[in-house]
Amino acid sequence: MKNIVVLVSGGGTNLQALIDAEKRGDIKGGKITCVISSNEDAYALERAKQNDIPSVVIPRKDYADSKSYSDAVLAELKKQNADLIVLAGFMIILDECVTKDYPYKIINVHPALIPSFCGEGFYGLRVHKAALEYGVKVSGATIHFVNEKADAGAIILQGTVDIANDETPETLQKKIMENVEWKLLPKAVSLFCEDRITIKDGKAYVDLEV
Ligand code: GAR
Repeated sequence: MKNIVVLVSGGGTNLQALIDAEKRGDIKGGKITCVISSNEDAYALERAKQNDIPSVVIPRKDYADSKSYSDAVLAELKKQNADLIVLAGFMIILDECVTKDYPYKIINVHPALIPSFCGEGFYGLRVHKAALEYGVKVSGATIHFVNEKADAGAIILQGTVDIANDETPETLQKKIMENVEWKLLPKAVSLFCEDRITIKDGKAYVDLEV
């Protein structure tokens, strides 16, 4: 069984999707063993508590810079014996001291079709606002590995939604979460835990046949 550590900052609906999938038996070969939050007020912490999952708060505001914050997160990941780290609405870019220590072992969910509307500054509702301002007709979410560059690691899964003429950032966020994020994040986590993701030339290939 792989130890899955989930990093959160806010509402934690993606964490909930992972918890529900685990309860249904849809995460094969892995178990959520710890939740780490960058924010002591995150509702995600309540979700962990309600489901008897241990949680740790490492407040970003207690650290002077990204490096010292990332060092603290890295120490906790080691303590937790993390096999897989899932960034589920984690709003902080981790320093390379973490990403280099866990190559192809950190999975992020980004609420757009990478390489569009991604990178530093693109998070939460800002992503959907940018997509609507551009006028794209399709958006979605990307589940990808995390490397040293923001939102630039190998793509594991992507899913799309159509954009309506009267779409708002809020309706688009909800549509993408319900139709893509909450389905594909647990799926990617299960694929990882079952060793069904292969890396070749920096790209991820998923074995969907089994
Ligand atoms: C989700 O839409 C997630 O994709 C996004 O923030 C939301 C968190 O919701 N993440 C990012 O923008 C990271 N770049 P949640 O806390 O309810 O899972």
